[in-house]
Amino acid sequence: MKRNILITGGAGFIGSHVVRLFVTKYPDYHIINLDKLTYAGNLANLKDIENAPNYTFIREDICNYDAIKEIFKQYDINGVIHLAAESHVDRSIKDPFIFAKTNVLGTISLLQAAKDSWNGNYEGKLFYHISTDEVYGALQFDGTLFTEETKYDPHSPYSASKASSDHFVRAFHDTYGLPTIITNCSNNYGPYQFPEKLIPLFINNIRHGKPLPVYGKGENVRDWLYVVDHARAIDLIFHKGKIADNYNIGGFNEWKNIDLIKVIIKTVDKLLGNPVGTSDHLITYVTDRAGHDLRYAIDSTKLKNELGWEPSLQFEEGIEKTVRWYLDNQEWMDNITSGEYEKYYDEMYRNR
Ligand code: NAD
Ligand code: TYD
Repeated sequence: MKRNILITGGAGFIGSHVVRLFVTKYPDYHIINLDKLTYAGNLANLKDIENAPNYTFIREDICNYDAIKEIFKQYDINGVIHLAAESHVDRSIKDPFIFAKTNVLGTISLLQAAKDSWNGNYEGKLFYHISTDEVYGALQFDGTLFTEETKYDPHSPYSASKASSDHFVRAFHDTYGLPTIITNCSNNYGPYQFPEKLIPLFINNIRHGKPLPVYGKGENVRDWLYVVDHARAIDLIFHKGKIADNYNIGGFNEWKNIDLIKVIIKTVDKLLGNPVGTSDHLITYVTDRAGHDLRYAIDSTKLKNELGWEPSLQFEEGIEKTVRWYLDNQEWMDNITSGEYEKYYDEMYRNR
């Protein structure tokens, strides 16, 4: 059976890496990238593969059940990798509604379209849902890790919406037999991340000599994974994962925010040729994020033991590669901060 894979959210940060990997590694697959192109979607993330013969881009909203159902029919979709989401915690605190709409209702719309299109013929089919470690809540500074058995305990509107979508994915398996897999990954970093998230925001602010807003005391801990390693894990799990199972993905790479920020400053200063310490004064402590989860840390032993996945990059190498990428791709960054990238889509799609 020819693989026709619908990847949602492929114009976003992680999605663009997944699309690139599948388009280049599997020339026999047809990769259909469906993305609404919200503020977070950027087709410039996929410039290098946009003309590949096995790639199709469709601008659509995952909430539009009728359109999705039609796409399943038109392209004979037999696999889904679902990444489309509202993904920024700070935005979810300001406007939870769009998170419920996209992350919960949008996921149900996709699940229902898959169920109705596959109509009980589940041979060779898979609905793979990409989720986050944030659904597990917050850890203390006690060395414990999130495992696949950790009870869900989301705190932010973002993580609550992702937890809800995970529950619906399980419900579609348990109720209708839909072949599903869920993975929960830790914080990603790397090229093409929208500059509202910590690492690209801070790299860009250092470049412009702008303050670096550190929430609270900077003591919260996140577990960072290079985005290409996440895409590699998704590839492996899509092909070898067990139906109805869930896997944690992470690099055993915990960093206190303030320590990570110091590494970023040091690396940017070094690559810009600035003397050590030039940008240290930009650190600015600001009011903490409401409900700020203290610590995330993922135990990905199951993925290693069952499927043999391990991160390929050490953090020091990954962060230097990432800083270098943002400094070398200033036009990409400037197009986003100026809003130029959105005008391009508006013109491109105005008459559609
Ligand atoms: P992102 O915000 O960079 O990209 C999201 C993409 O989804 C954008 O291209 C956007 O246009 C698209 N989108 C949003 N609403 C849509 C809709 N209604 N219909 C169609 N497309 C829509 O997000 P990301 O950081 O790449 O995250 C991708 C997925 O991975 C999300 O599901 C997120 O929860 C999950 N995740 C992210 C991280 C992380 O560190 N970034 C970690 C673990 C899991
Ligand atoms: P972020 O990149 O938003 O990811 P998440 O909230 O999903 O973990 O933030 C990473 C950490 O950095 C988080 O603890 C919040 C903190 N942070 C700041 O201190 N300042 C900032 O400007 C941002 C965006 C985040």
